[in-house]
Amino acid sequence: MDKGIFMHREELDEFVEQVTARTDLLQIVQSYVPLKRKGNRYWGCCPFHGEKTPSFSVVPDKGFFYCFGCHAGGNVFKFLSLIENISYFEAIKLQAEKLGIPLPRRQKSPQEIARDKEIADLRKVNEMARDFFHNCLTLTRLGEPGKAYFASRSISAETIEEFKLGFAPHAWDKLSTAFLKRGVKQELLLSGGLAAERQNGEGVYDRFRNRIIIPIADERGRVVGFGGRVLDDSTPKYLNTPETVLFNKRRILFGLDRAGRAIKQAGYAIVVEGYMDAISVFSAGVKNVVASLGTAFTPEHCKLLLRYAPAIYFCYDSDDAGQKATIRALSIVQGTGASVRVIVVPDGKDPDEYIRKHGAEAFQQLVKKALPLVEYRLQYVLKHFEHDGLEGKVKALHAMLPVLTGIREPAVLGEYIKRLAQALLLDEGIVRDELRRFGHQPLPEDNSSFTQREPIRQAVRHTDTALQRAGRIVIRLAFQDAGILQHFAAMMPLTGIGDRAQREILLALQELAEQGKNSNDTELPNKLSEEAMAELSRAMVEDLGVLSETEAYSNAVRVLRRAYLNMRYVEHSQRAAELAQQGDEAYVAELNQAQKIKDEMEALQFE
Ligand code: UTP
Ligand code: MN
Repeated sequence: MDKGIFMHREELDEFVEQVTARTDLLQIVQSYVPLKRKGNRYWGCCPFHGEKTPSFSVVPDKGFFYCFGCHAGGNVFKFLSLIENISYFEAIKLQAEKLGIPLPRRQKSPQEIARDKEIADLRKVNEMARDFFHNCLTLTRLGEPGKAYFASRSISAETIEEFKLGFAPHAWDKLSTAFLKRGVKQELLLSGGLAAERQNGEGVYDRFRNRIIIPIADERGRVVGFGGRVLDDSTPKYLNTPETVLFNKRRILFGLDRAGRAIKQAGYAIVVEGYMDAISVFSAGVKNVVASLGTAFTPEHCKLLLRYAPAIYFCYDSDDAGQKATIRALSIVQGTGASVRVIVVPDGKDPDEYIRKHGAEAFQQLVKKALPLVEYRLQYVLKHFEHDGLEGKVKALHAMLPVLTGIREPAVLGEYIKRLAQALLLDEGIVRDELRRFGHQPLPEDNSSFTQREPIRQAVRHTDTALQRAGRIVIRLAFQDAGILQHFAAMMPLTGIGDRAQREILLALQELAEQGKNSNDTELPNKLSEEAMAELSRAMVEDLGVLSETEAYSNAVRVLRRAYLNMRYVEHSQRAAELAQQGDEAYVAELNQAQKIKDEMEALQFE
């Protein structure tokens, strides 16, 4: 994203303030999650983790949401960034666009202007090429071999129209000549990957010749490249546009421009391997389908899809390579918060062949029977691992651990543990032990490479002590009133707060106060770690029970101060013991310190 579009810091602040002022947290959250009101708080089922009883809450007065289940939390832009899978700043921009608030732009450099022009020109020439190939197929005699090929694959005229499929004629330079005549610069044909330079002699020749053409668009429907398939068995089967400024295979998913709405509606995207699979599946009435372009499914693809729906179904070829690709794709998606299923296509076929043989209806049934990730993994492991000997059993077990740790619901986990133990003829206790041991280890490399949604879960706090509750009360009041922060800082140093996230919040608030900014400053959410942001939201959203805020605050200060004194007491007594052991007289002073602190702690009890 272009971070450099803003002129001044102040201009950015003003922009963010304007967007913030006109943005209604409750309304935005409600457009994604049904909420019920209870007092000044709204409750619903958390959109960031699967749950049946609501633990997700919004307090509009405070401007924060927080989930007591998965500990996701923050302000309205944090919410948008999590639910749309975009960055915090992109969320502000998205909201600004909806509200019609213009982005303050700075002057572009000549290089930027040149680049923008190149991109615009490439888009134009790609669009011309798409029409050229399509017209060649549908309107000219040169397109007849292409027509025959599509017919042989039972691709209808409607589908040809829908996907603007085309044909590149059996000639060296039909496109190049036509385009040059129409004033397209030769460099543009080259940089767009539509033509290549002749090895000997002058001029250029067409990249795509005697191939059916599949235009590839970005998610907004702008043509970025082409895939061209041969009509027979020669190689390469597919020739694609090379990487260009517009065409980045790691980012582009074929069909997303058409499938986007259906993906949102269905709540999941189906990912297939080939163009033809996507086209067939789409024509069979299953419109929420995209294809990764023959490359592996990438973290970028995953991030893109998560903006449309929280679930991804993989439907790869059922041959060996397809199964391996499925496992690889699954490891990319794990840890992103996406829920994953696998559509299994029987009898060694790809989805396109399956549909041609068994029909659309049969394929729709396969989609309904998609296996949850764990189930698929279990079947795969049982099939591919020799699990007769002990060593094999252990290997199979270990192959299952990463997916098992991803299961949230204890009942489901218990069920899988039982099934795995039975299948491997192992004791259930062994499976549980291994799982526990594995749970304490970091995820293997390829699973942890993509962590868009992971920070929420890393921030899950397993313990919640009275001390942490007290810390949140102080944070809540300090956030609302800088005077309280000052008071608290006089009672104990902020660095003496034991909880890392809470310490971070209080120190950040103090820094803002010192700069004369208020706690709602737009910098704060950017400054805070994910964990701290969640903790701040929780503090703002949490119920204080029957106590008034001031009562809760003075209790909280007492609890925190006592803990702080205790920590110092322990430090001084330990130091005293060490010094005494070394025969150092200074231990007396340490002991005195410790005693003073102890007295103070006792006095606190009577306050
Ligand atoms: P497949 O070989 O499975 O293609 O490659 P397919 O979709 O089944 O093709 P048909 O049905 O024979 O026409 C899957 C994808 O891998 C990429 C293409 O994107 C293709 O759709 N691929 C494959 C290439 O880019 N180049 C190749 O030579 C082969
Ligand atoms: Mn195929």
